[in-house]
Amino acid sequence: MTGSEIRARFLQFFADRGHTMVQSSSLVPHNDPTLLFTNAGMNQFKDCFLGAEKRDYLRACSSQKCVRAGGKHNDLENVGRTARHHTFFEMLGNFSFGDYFKKEAIAYAWDFLTKELGLDTSRLYVSVYTTDDEAADIWHKQEGVPRERIFRFEEDNFWSMGDTGPCGPCSEIFYDNGSEIGCDSPNCTVGCDCDRYMEIWNNVFMQFDRQPNGELIPLPKPAVDTGMGLERITTVMQGVQSNYDTDLLRTIISYIENLAEKTYGDNEEHDVSMRVIADHSRATAFLIADGVLPSNEGRGYVLRRIMRRAMRHARMLGFEAPVLYKTAIFVLESMALAFPDEAKRSSFVAKVVQNEEERFILTLGNGLRILQDEIAKLEQLQQKTIPGETVFKLYDTYGFPFDLTADIVEKDGYILDEAGFETCMEEQRKKARAHWKGSGEEAVAGVYKELIEQGIRSAFSGYQSLEDQSEVLVLLQEGQQVEEAVCGEKVEVICSTTPCYGESGGQVGDTGAISSDEASLRIIETRKPLPNLLVHSCEVLTGAIHHRARVKITVDAARRLQIVRNHTATHLLQAALQKILGEHVKQAGSLVTPERLRFDFTHFSPVSPQELQQIEELVNSEIRRNNTVSTREMASDEAIAAGAMALFGEKYGDLVRVVEVGDFSMELCGGTHAKAAGDIGLFRILSEGGIAAGVRRIEAVTGDTALAQVHEQQQMLSQIGNILKTDQANLEQRLHKLLEHQRQLEKDLEQLQSQVNANLGGDLLSQVQIIEGIKLLAVRIDGCDGKQLRELSDQLRDKLQSGVLVLTGNFEESVPLLVAVTKDLTDRVSAGNLIKPLAALVGGRGGGRPDLAQAGGKDAGQIDNLLAAAPMRLKDILQG
Ligand code: ALA
Repeated sequence: MTGSEIRARFLQFFADRGHTMVQSSSLVPHNDPTLLFTNAGMNQFKDCFLGAEKRDYLRACSSQKCVRAGGKHNDLENVGRTARHHTFFEMLGNFSFGDYFKKEAIAYAWDFLTKELGLDTSRLYVSVYTTDDEAADIWHKQEGVPRERIFRFEEDNFWSMGDTGPCGPCSEIFYDNGSEIGCDSPNCTVGCDCDRYMEIWNNVFMQFDRQPNGELIPLPKPAVDTGMGLERITTVMQGVQSNYDTDLLRTIISYIENLAEKTYGDNEEHDVSMRVIADHSRATAFLIADGVLPSNEGRGYVLRRIMRRAMRHARMLGFEAPVLYKTAIFVLESMALAFPDEAKRSSFVAKVVQNEEERFILTLGNGLRILQDEIAKLEQLQQKTIPGETVFKLYDTYGFPFDLTADIVEKDGYILDEAGFETCMEEQRKKARAHWKGSGEEAVAGVYKELIEQGIRSAFSGYQSLEDQSEVLVLLQEGQQVEEAVCGEKVEVICSTTPCYGESGGQVGDTGAISSDEASLRIIETRKPLPNLLVHSCEVLTGAIHHRARVKITVDAARRLQIVRNHTATHLLQAALQKILGEHVKQAGSLVTPERLRFDFTHFSPVSPQELQQIEELVNSEIRRNNTVSTREMASDEAIAAGAMALFGEKYGDLVRVVEVGDFSMELCGGTHAKAAGDIGLFRILSEGGIAAGVRRIEAVTGDTALAQVHEQQQMLSQIGNILKTDQANLEQRLHKLLEHQRQLEKDLEQLQSQVNANLGGDLLSQVQIIEGIKLLAVRIDGCDGKQLRELSDQLRDKLQSGVLVLTGNFEESVPLLVAVTKDLTDRVSAGNLIKPLAALVGGRGGGRPDLAQAGGKDAGQIDNLLAAAPMRLKDILQG
């Protein structure tokens, strides 16, 4: 049975038992900034367990893509060195949201393993929470598992998603790999750290919601969350010892074997590298397909660490050129049946990976050399710890993540000075903080979480109207709830319902006014720090506003109108980009404000002026078609199937809001929109440019702003027309003429200058002095550059026939200097020698041939001294 078949059998087994098959959610957790990556099947159902979300099913099953990278049991260094560690894996799960509980969950799990998959019960063991007699009894009485095969654990049999949230006691199922595997210790049994008794399935009996203070509050209804690692159960079914020997991973290893021209199994170090690349290629491909891009912080940094470790191992296998992008494509293509959407993004993924590989290959070699030098030094000193500064330098300058350096030196028995590294990091952070002018927002954010936990919710009524009656639920000042706020004070106001849109999905929040019998407030901005919580930041203009006051809330309508035009135009722009540039265009970010719209999208070359014009024309023709903008709610998978554009890697709830503009655009969107495309009036692109590898940005304006922009340009043109004294039709011709005229003038000027110089030559001859029988002409000529001095010297030399020339003067802040000697005299005096002492007087240096030398000085105040000194210096030289 292949891994894919096992996945399909599992899902079908539970679908046959009334479970709804639910798609895997994105690896980027939706609305949960505290969770790094989706790490369990239950993540997407968290709110269902808490009772905060209702779905139209009570039973679900899924195969969830998960990434665990970091933390106690998931050190990156282990991956590739053991049989079971992974960054990316799939978790099969069945879930009950207040429907069935322990009895059924246990029966389903047992039936699936023993009947559906036909596992030998003599190889199976189970465990329950220390005090969970109920579960132990079910295992024994209902399923016939002998008492001595039922183990009890405390910590290992209590599962929680994180420090807070849904949790409960759990019951695990173990598979005995046989006595030939494992530690051979006489005490080896279920729970031993070795590979013999392998946990394959975890059934969590969700009963509590853990509070920040550790208190366990019972859930509205007890529920079931289960998880079985697809790679592990496949290992069992395929009768192999390592997850890497299942078809899920072995096919990737075979692909790498071919590329590397090496055989898996020949060399342990190469085997490790192949396993690392196989595992990390899966994490890389799926993370990027879900919209994570390698970067220096947060999720992007974890991805970068994974990628760079894989790249280093690729090099150890002998790859000099990028290769990971190929394995990433292979992964997505071979998993296309189960993950079709991700597979569609494979060319994008490949570009991102290749780009990162090319960047890192440039520094990898240099970094490795630094590390080798350091190791050579340590060897002499007989030390085994790489200093923190070196580790930091590798991190900071060469992009070596800490664990990459650790991974490289590990096999030679070196360790890293982690504390020293942290000190360097802290120092850098301190420097960064000194430049950061934060407002302590992080601390305040907790307040909103507490409000939600207290049941505070605000509804949004601003799709239909721009005015609403409401009640003040909470007043906040500096993160504290207050009873009232008075004239002149700033206050955050949360109401039961509001027509003001809270900043989200790239659309800025509304401004407007709040009024009660006793007060009037100006809404400076509206935010949405958490789903279902709309917060107005206000200033009290008159009177006092009270907790529980009845209020009227009004949106600034003119500003909202500008926003909706820009938002609807953003949708038209996205559709036009896909039509003109291609289907690969995906939204990578957007910002909609009253003034303008900004749209970031994936595309690999600059958009040409012709393409930009086509895009602008297409959007404007849609505006003129004036289709109505319609919105409706529909099931998320239906909407996606119908072709609605969804945010790259975003996970949506089951019911989604779909915004359509005629047959031209269909997008999932929670924002506010124009009534019809024609409301946009006019659409103009302001700029296009690249913002990251493979990501472009377009900025544009609409409506009266676009018109104002046209007027502005028009005005500029007519001003230019006024200056050039012509009408617009003739502007271009006039400008060409002017430039032509200017070129002619410059030519004339040059000629004149030469003539002037020639005439000047005649006058100057009167200033010739005789030094030791040689003619010296040392004169000041201001306003000539070096080239002009040279021309002049040619003429003077001819006139002088035999002699020495020193020409200098002031030219635009500089002092050009020239010394020329006629050929007959160069054996007595060299221009190059004479110019040196003279140039020094004006703060310059120079040199040249015996007959001609030039220099440039700075000190114009010394020009006359220089000329006075010339006879003396010439004399010095002549006298030797
Ligand atoms: N959520 C449980 C786990 O991850 C099933 O083990």
